[in-house]
Amino acid sequence: MHRITPFLLVAFASFTSAVPSPRSTHVLHERRAMEPVEWAKISRLEADSILPMRIGLAQQNLHLVEEMLTAVSHPESPKYGQHYSAAEIVDTFKPSEETVQAVTNWLVNAGISRDRLQLSLNKGWIHVNASTAEAEDLLKTEYHVYMHPSGAKQIGCHNYSVPAHVQRHVDLIKPTVHFNHQAGDDFARRKLDTEPLTDIVSGPIVAGDASDASIPANLVNCDKQITLACLRALYKIDYTPVSTHVNTFGIVELTPQAFLPGDLDLFFKNFVPSLIGVRPTPVLIDGAVVQNTSQSFNSNGESSLDLEYGMGLTAPQPIILLQTGDLVEGGRFDNWLDAVDGSFCTFEGGDVPGEDGIYPDSIGSPQSCGIIKPPNVISTSYSQDEATATLAYAVRQCTEYAKLGMLGTTVIYSSGDNGVGGRNNVCLDVHDNEDPTNGTTFNPRFPAACPFLTAVGATQVNPGSTVDDPEGACEQVIFSGGGFSNIFAMPSYQALAVNDYVNAHLTPSPYPVGTYNTSGSRAFPDIAANGANYVIGVDGTLSLVFGTSASAPVVASVITLINDARIAIGKGPVGFINPVLYSPIFAPAFNDIVTGGNQGCGTPGFNATPGWDPVTGVGTPNFPRLLDLFKSLP
Ligand SMILES: *[C@@H]1O[C@H](CO)[C@@H](O)[C@H](O)[C@H]1NC(C)=O
Ligand SMILES: *[C@@H]1O[C@H](CO)[C@@H](O)[C@H](O)[C@H]1NC(C)=O
Ligand SMILES: *[C@@H]1O[C@H](CO)[C@@H](O)[C@H](O)[C@H]1NC(C)=O
Ligand SMILES: *[C@@H]1O[C@H](CO)[C@@H](O)[C@H](O)[C@H]1NC(C)=O
Ligand SMILES: *[C@@H]1O[C@H](CO)[C@@H](O)[C@H](O)[C@H]1NC(C)=O
Repeated sequence: MHRITPFLLVAFASFTSAVPSPRSTHVLHERRAMEPVEWAKISRLEADSILPMRIGLAQQNLHLVEEMLTAVSHPESPKYGQHYSAAEIVDTFKPSEETVQAVTNWLVNAGISRDRLQLSLNKGWIHVNASTAEAEDLLKTEYHVYMHPSGAKQIGCHNYSVPAHVQRHVDLIKPTVHFNHQAGDDFARRKLDTEPLTDIVSGPIVAGDASDASIPANLVNCDKQITLACLRALYKIDYTPVSTHVNTFGIVELTPQAFLPGDLDLFFKNFVPSLIGVRPTPVLIDGAVVQNTSQSFNSNGESSLDLEYGMGLTAPQPIILLQTGDLVEGGRFDNWLDAVDGSFCTFEGGDVPGEDGIYPDSIGSPQSCGIIKPPNVISTSYSQDEATATLAYAVRQCTEYAKLGMLGTTVIYSSGDNGVGGRNNVCLDVHDNEDPTNGTTFNPRFPAACPFLTAVGATQVNPGSTVDDPEGACEQVIFSGGGFSNIFAMPSYQALAVNDYVNAHLTPSPYPVGTYNTSGSRAFPDIAANGANYVIGVDGTLSLVFGTSASAPVVASVITLINDARIAIGKGPVGFINPVLYSPIFAPAFNDIVTGGNQGCGTPGFNATPGWDPVTGVGTPNFPRLLDLFKSLP
């Protein structure tokens, strides 16, 4: 067989290509903002090295996301509740035939024969094994070998270009500028810098003896100790699930955060004896372990809280524990999303080094793609500052929450615990590029700031009040995260409610221009639930904890019970609930919160007021009314 060396092949292609030469029409497609810290460029990559190139194709119809989601989730839509199938979603957003053709023609005209190209199953990628020389010519770049002090090596280029007429069809190309920073010390630092800490805050430890907090339910102390009985009384939750074999409720925990079996039983012994010995059903994502080697409040607090209250409020509903990440890479939001939707693993370029856990990893943990059907409700009590997310990362992930909503899943996130400030009460200085984190500009949370999920703020039983009195915004230990996104525009479902608030309370603005985003952006939270003084079993004792971390699983439990009742009468799960939450018909189903605020950044923040507010959203649930209204929807 006649073999053409890659060099000749490329030379041949450039002689025969059409005029004008593709060389002259290339435009810069992606570049690294800076060279990776600690990695030294040691040499050019050899011209005959083979690169497994993957060309991510641009998805189509992304402008339809909000419209399609609204069609199945707005209470007045004739298609309410008629969720899409996974195949319909893949089909709607997969790259167009025109895109596949444009990219294929580019490669073939550049001399890469058609039989070397392979289209991935979800049609999102074109794969080709190319020599370095071929890749450098295609992308008008130079590949280098980089080395880390630990001895690890990887290859990459600083920037690359594609022909102008192909650019809109290409999302990104790998391997190029995307650098996996994982290696030795550098990796450890990445974990410290970007790992999302839980929103949970440790409060004072309750006396080891739990008798004062145990059954029979003591409702006198709910301003000092929240228990399952207090929550049931506050929100009038009186419902025992009957559709537990069909219904599904998932709780996300990011490794190394994990529960200890003994802690669950300590809590159950005191508050839900019927659950002693009952455990969540673990789904181990990306080689996850439910670790028990590191035992501390920071390792166990979040999982204990989420599982004890999620299980307690929905018993006997089995809980799916989406344990995400192994002990090397850990887990992030994109990692659990990969596990519930296999098409997300590669969607718009796949997971991002430096943001997500990258699998398979150095200890061989696989990437878990589509290993479980998305549960009907998913609760996640982790978050990061929106300002620490890149635009592409945030938008890609937010689009995925919309797709889960289209499939019929309710995605619930905590709204953050620092009021209008960010993690560690950091506020932004948009004018200081050197130190953008020492200013007075409000610092919204992500994913809460994504408009296609439900963000939950925190309330409290005011000191000296009872469960029969109105709650206020949480102002003990933590303040409810809330405000306005700097990335996402305002979705139509909240326009009326948010504009009412802005007109009544922020016009004129009490804060200097630039303190928060007033350009019509997504406002959050959407809803609230108690977040103060939760009694949990953790590390062998009963402790008190605070946070929107507690509020999220409570709202998720309420929606799980509502799904149960709907399934029992032959209806489907409710899916994305925000258009319903903001619907005037549903207003009576919430306890409006009108006192307290969410101070931060050296300001009082925003105030809880009649109607929606950026502290407690539409308020806390009135379960019987919410149940009746949801049951009346198709
Ligand atoms: C690239 O080469 C690898 C290793 O030989 C092979 O497994 C893979 O199928 C090839 N991919 C394409 C698109 O030819
Ligand atoms: C692209 O990278 C090359 C080095 O490979 C560099 O010389 C050039 O300045 C870069 N261009 C841009 C726009 O970053
Ligand atoms: C930790 O988990 C392992 C694996 O599940 C188990 O065998 C071991 O008994 C546990 N140790 C403790 C102290 O809980
Ligand atoms: C933050 O800014 C204030 C004044 O604006 C200054 O006094 C303080 O030193 C700064 N802190 C840091 C860590 O830069
Ligand atoms: C405000 O949010 C919008 C998105 O709604 C964004 O386009 C804009 O850049 C943001 N402004 C600032 C100052 O961050």
